[in-house]
Amino acid sequence: MKSWLITGGCGFIGSNFVRMAAEMEAGRIVVLDSLTYAGSLSNIAELTTRGRVEFCKGDICDGALVNDLFGVHGFDCVVHFAAESHVDRSILGERPFLRTNIEGTYVLVDAARRAWRNDPHEKRFIHISTDEVFGDLGPDDPPFAEGTPYRPSSPYAASKASADHLVRAWQRTFGLPAIITNCGNNYGPWQFPEKLIPLMILNAIEGRELPVYGDGKQMRDWLHVADHCRAIMTVVNRGEIGATYLIGGDDARTNLDVVHRICWAVDAELDRAPGTSAKLVRHVADRPGHDRRYSLDAAHLKTSLGWRPVENFETALPAIVRWYVEHKNWANELRTGAYRQYYERQYAGR
Ligand code: NAD
Ligand code: DAU
Repeated sequence: MKSWLITGGCGFIGSNFVRMAAEMEAGRIVVLDSLTYAGSLSNIAELTTRGRVEFCKGDICDGALVNDLFGVHGFDCVVHFAAESHVDRSILGERPFLRTNIEGTYVLVDAARRAWRNDPHEKRFIHISTDEVFGDLGPDDPPFAEGTPYRPSSPYAASKASADHLVRAWQRTFGLPAIITNCGNNYGPWQFPEKLIPLMILNAIEGRELPVYGDGKQMRDWLHVADHCRAIMTVVNRGEIGATYLIGGDDARTNLDVVHRICWAVDAELDRAPGTSAKLVRHVADRPGHDRRYSLDAAHLKTSLGWRPVENFETALPAIVRWYVEHKNWANELRTGAYRQYYERQYAGR
């Protein structure tokens, strides 16, 4: 039975992973999350109220707290999701990204190193990273692979690249039993409404404009969050210490294609005339430094550990649209005054 520390377990991917771990694994699960604007205890409420998951409200940059948690719970597996995760916000203000993503990761790897110094066997530190550390691809470039050089474009990507370097250095120099995963764009339930897919679904439901950056021909490699969580669980159980695994959904699409499919799915879900939501699409000024294309080669994970994505964006989309329709109250509670201010700053006059 493992004792788990899951950081950022009240965010999008973290909460999906906590739910999966609580179902599949028998051990103790502690979630450490500071509940920034992106984290909500309601995302894992059913697990904390029935005592399956212990929640600790706290900051990963707080070294005393993190060391204390290791001392009390004797974790043998850390899955590190906590981060500032939105590229647009990192362009509006980079400080929280440098603090949480770099300093917070340093605090965690160092606490794990100290706690596990005398017995690193059977321990695992899984660092959840992103394909954005590799920068972008030209139209004919081969997909990212584990050896692709780092070339981050945004403050967010640079902070995640720095965190990856710290984890790798702690693994190599101090023998931290660490593994890094870099995945593509996730979609699914519980995603904060600022990200492309929930933003477009909710705006389409509400009859609001659908702001597409630039020409909308940027490509992302979409991965269902359930496939991502299964991949992480595979890496926790069978991944090789010191290895990096790329996790991609084999589902590369332009943003325009994603937005138009969302329009069709929302119209179908709400029994609207086909084409109603597509009229809301508006091209707006592009994101500065916008990466043009991501694509991942997940061959290493597939061949060495046998993982494969089972979901597909087109077939999964109707259920996801329905989930956001049925969770409008959840979304409304997140879109508070602070969120509305962010939205105004991000989109007004664009
Ligand atoms: P998210 O923004 O939805 O959630 C982040 C969580 O971390 C929130 O619950 C927040 O409260 C918590 N948090 C932030 N700062 C903290 C701090 N200082 N101390 C403690 N908790 C803190 O993020 P997400 O989309 O679920 O992403 C999770 C991880 O996966 C991140 O590391 C991100 O870089 C990575 N990732 C995400 C995607 C994606 O498509 N969403 C793709 C690739 C990689
Ligand atoms: O690739 C992995 C990354 O995916 C993760 O590391 C990040 O944490 C996650 O936020 C995501 O980053 P992106 O910048 O790719 O995601 P976002 O949902 O913000 O945007 C997806 C694409 O859609 C991107 O090309 C920008 C575009 N976009 C986004 C928004 C919010 C729009 O055209 N309009 C919008 O309003």
